[in-house]
Amino acid sequence: METIRILGTGSYVPPHIVTNDDLVQQGLDTSDEWIAKRTGVRQRRVAEPEVTTSDMACIAAQKALDMAGIPASQIDLIILATITPDTSCPAGANWLQAKLNAPQAVSFDVTAACSGFVFAMNIAEQFLKNRTFRKVLVVGGEVMTRVVDWNDRGTCVLWGDGAGAAVLSLGESGPELLSTHIHSDGTNGQNLLLPGGGSRSTPINHESVEKGLHHLRMIEGNMIFRVAVRYFMESIKEAAEHNRIAVEQVDWFIPHQANIRMFQNISQTMNIPMEKFYLTLHKYGNISAASCAIALDEAVRDGSVRDGQLISMPVFGGGLTWGGAMIRW
Ligand code: COA
Repeated sequence: METIRILGTGSYVPPHIVTNDDLVQQGLDTSDEWIAKRTGVRQRRVAEPEVTTSDMACIAAQKALDMAGIPASQIDLIILATITPDTSCPAGANWLQAKLNAPQAVSFDVTAACSGFVFAMNIAEQFLKNRTFRKVLVVGGEVMTRVVDWNDRGTCVLWGDGAGAAVLSLGESGPELLSTHIHSDGTNGQNLLLPGGGSRSTPINHESVEKGLHHLRMIEGNMIFRVAVRYFMESIKEAAEHNRIAVEQVDWFIPHQANIRMFQNISQTMNIPMEKFYLTLHKYGNISAASCAIALDEAVRDGSVRDGQLISMPVFGGGLTWGGAMIRW
């Protein structure tokens, strides 16, 4: 029977590294010790000013296509999960489509913040099951360092830039996407806010810039932390129960890479060994929708993930949004 298969994965992070010490040297009132202890982040990648989300998405996508062994001309659908598209219109996915030279594909963006990659895989799953499309390119890409306020030490230290991709198709063999699960809660989504340019605030003008509305705002980080831990755990359980898999049977947890203390907390509460969490946040920070896609690709390419292993991908993000995926590699 044909089910949903992952034909290839790919990722890209820009080469420019900014360490915690670099931030201190740039005048931010913080320390490597504080950031590392509270978040696990030691450094992040920062895209050069001329590099856009679709530039990085294109490199990640090409790597995924190469692993899949198919040309971009065979992709019928491109879904880009991002909150930092090249432009609001056209969609970031359309810039990506043009760069990939895939004119036959349909393309659109998905806005689900840090949960975006799993939301995009869920959408791909529906189209594949309906047989509307045969080959889908799912990408998470972000230039978060361009929307953070570099004077806001409580927020800017968390984020980084990059892109991750996967090619999905119906098939009878190979890594299988067993299920995806998505949720949102718009009534409690205001503590992670990127207001600038949206119809809720003034258009981008001097006034909105002076108010800093173009910056990502995070209010009550502590509360977000607790909610994230709860939804990460619920998402792990939901994906396991749906597939009748005991949480202990899962070989790898490749979560949205928010904060190491969240996973230490989950590890203790759910009795999951820390070694089962595949983490990239120490070197890349939080890359929103791209985080778990990049981590999945790195886990595949460095040989951590082996054939037949079970992977749980819990995600949480602004919106609020959360969910998970279960994969048998
Ligand atoms: N360096 C040094 N001190 C800092 C700092 C920094 N980079 N950022 C904040 N502080 C200070 C605060 O000003 C505060 O000082 P005060 O006690 O004098 O007022 C103190 O550290 C504690 O701040 P608090 O916000 O309570 O710290 P925290 O332990 O909650 O850690 C976060 C802050 C942001 C790391 C943590 O709340 C978190 O990770 N939240 C979730 C954020 C997240 O992942 N968002 C995305 C979800 S997808």
